[in-house]
Amino acid sequence: MKNLAAIVLAAGRGTRMKSRIPKVLHPISGHPMIHYPLRALKGLKTGKIVVVTGYGADAVEESLSGFKGLTFARQAEQKGTAHAVMCAAMELEGHAGDVLILSGDVPLITPQTVKALLKIHRKGGANPVSFISAFVSDPVGYGRVIRDAGGKVAGIIEEKDCTALQKRIKEVNAGVYLVNADFLRKNIGGISARNAQREYYLPDLVRMAVEKGGRVPALTHCDPSEVMGINNRVELAAANSIMRERVSRELMLAGVSIIDPVATYIDFGARIGADTVIYPGAHIDGRTRIGADCVIEEGVRIEDSFIGDNTRVKSYSIIESTSLGKHVTVGPFARLRPGNVIKDRARIGNFVELKKSVIGAGTKANHLSYIGDSVIGDNVNIGAGTITCNYDGVRKHRTIIEDNAFIGSDTQLVAPVKVGKNAYVGSGTTVTRDVPPWSLVVTRADERVVEGWAKRRLEKK
Ligand code: UD1
Ligand code: CA
Repeated sequence: MKNLAAIVLAAGRGTRMKSRIPKVLHPISGHPMIHYPLRALKGLKTGKIVVVTGYGADAVEESLSGFKGLTFARQAEQKGTAHAVMCAAMELEGHAGDVLILSGDVPLITPQTVKALLKIHRKGGANPVSFISAFVSDPVGYGRVIRDAGGKVAGIIEEKDCTALQKRIKEVNAGVYLVNADFLRKNIGGISARNAQREYYLPDLVRMAVEKGGRVPALTHCDPSEVMGINNRVELAAANSIMRERVSRELMLAGVSIIDPVATYIDFGARIGADTVIYPGAHIDGRTRIGADCVIEEGVRIEDSFIGDNTRVKSYSIIESTSLGKHVTVGPFARLRPGNVIKDRARIGNFVELKKSVIGAGTKANHLSYIGDSVIGDNVNIGAGTITCNYDGVRKHRTIIEDNAFIGSDTQLVAPVKVGKNAYVGSGTTVTRDVPPWSLVVTRADERVVEGWAKRRLEKK
């Protein structure tokens, strides 16, 4: 967008959150709230973007490290939104054109809305200021929009400065503004803190523009939820549920079946292929990518993982930072800790825990196993109760099992150890030395049968 710079306000603590964490870092759909206004700017080709930080500045700036080309301005003491803009204005000294001002706590705003604001701002010549308003049923906490008898905007009054009558106004300020850079530079310093909160109010610019004979157009948004401000945890939960609805709606329109979207938690940015079916209670988090024709059953949690086409994750499994191939089956009740690569057609069954392991194509570990720091080849059978003893109390060691090996039930593999191709480990074995290919290994105490023992025991009593 031509001659457009942006300021994003994110210095406040967010007292009403009752939190140690800066408000703008509280998550919405898996990402810090502050990411959303910055994403909304992405489609606009703005010039300089200045983010004002203050409370928890280091953490807030760190959370934005993935966004390129941002400028940070520090507001050491939070003296109000106009003071925050003043801190940013120094970074925009030579800028001619308009300055878009977004709030870090108005996360649901879309690029379309910002574009619509730009359009009305630039219509009919240069307006000093324009902003977004909305009619809400419960205006508590918002600044109210004051209009004159002719319906023109006259100013914005903060709730705490409102008369009882003004409090009944339902048109509120959304905290999103477009300001002519020249007008901003000339007037931001003129805002006073003579008000109920002893703060420098940015919305005062609106009244100043009107007093100077300017027109202040308001874009009155028809969907108040898009411009809602997040000030407490009730609003945070509401914003999460709206974002959840947006994310699942987009996925469903792209061919994903979500049985119950209200009870399914998919982070913004997760990618899911067509004809995949997701059952209630599933959590799909972070940078997860799920292929086409998969089934994700109820209560599954998948985080930062890749899942190939036609794979089924059965109920109540947990998958973290793991890559699953195609036609794989996992669960129910499997736990895949970070760092696994599971190849095509492998089967990981109930109560199997995996960590930092490679599971070859067609390999099965169907029941009750722990496999850690292991590399397992193709078509291996891992019997129930197999445990890789990867930790000696000091260090972790690797287990290697080559293609087509058969590991009988209740085997312990004391790492470092290797089982060669096509080898056979008898049930109940503790493997401590490498097993050559094609061999059998078995450690077992001799079996003793004492006939009639149980009966004699009874008779003794
Ligand atoms: C503000 C508006 C109000 C509007 C509402 C919409 C003011 C005075 N009031 O009120 O008219 O209806 O937003 O959501 O602007 N911030 C700073 N530095 C500060 C103070 C705030 O960076 O010194 C940041 C906050 O981090 C936040 C944003 O500015 O992202 C808004 O501040 P907040 O205190 O939440 O303002 P509201 O009381 O909600
Ligand atoms: Ca707010």
